[in-house]
Amino acid sequence: MHVQQELINWYHAIKRDLPWRHTTDAYTIWLSEIILQQTRVEQGLPYYQRFLEKYPTVIDFAAAPEDDILKLWQGLGYYSRGRNMLKTAKQVQEEYNGVFPTSYDQLIKLKGIGEYTAAAISSFSANEARAVLDGNVYRVLSRYLGISQPIDSTTGKKIFRQAADDFLNEKDPAAHNQAMMELGALVCKPKNPACGTCPIRMGCYAFLHNAAGSFPVKAKK
Ligand code: ADE
Repeated sequence: MHVQQELINWYHAIKRDLPWRHTTDAYTIWLSEIILQQTRVEQGLPYYQRFLEKYPTVIDFAAAPEDDILKLWQGLGYYSRGRNMLKTAKQVQEEYNGVFPTSYDQLIKLKGIGEYTAAAISSFSANEARAVLDGNVYRVLSRYLGISQPIDSTTGKKIFRQAADDFLNEKDPAAHNQAMMELGALVCKPKNPACGTCPIRMGCYAFLHNAAGSFPVKAKK
């Protein structure tokens, strides 16, 4: 079996039951992905629920006073995220008539949406073949492929982008992306990775060389 299939089978067997994994609504996915940037799942969950309850659609969100958004955001830190979300929502309201776009090329043009978020929304909402590249994915790919270019260098970023695209399971991009993040969060952890339970260890450079601790490589300290 292909490694990508092993990964997806593993994901379906052990995945955490997280609410944003039950929807293909682009607005809802956007909400979850912005909240989860720099925030752990357990911490982000109640915020996600409160936001969705108060603002069920992007039209509701776009109409909210900034103070209300920031109040609801309290405790999450990085308040610029909350402020930028309001700008994004207003842009969706104005330019897309309140219908959140699902294509990568449209999403990437929105204020406050970068490569990661555009790939996440387009793959999860429309199954577009876009590979996500976040801290989890950098770690998994660097170990699996033995990539020693620093993840914080220009060359490194290009190499990882190419590696993530090559590794993508184009038949099921949504599950593939979730699976990569799940593997990074639950198994291929920064410290003490649980290689013994990893579904793809038999092809993993770092596992086979007992070198998980040496990846990913960083240029700056
Ligand atoms: N962190 C960022 N996006 C996530 C997702 N979709 N599922 C779990 N953790 C995440």
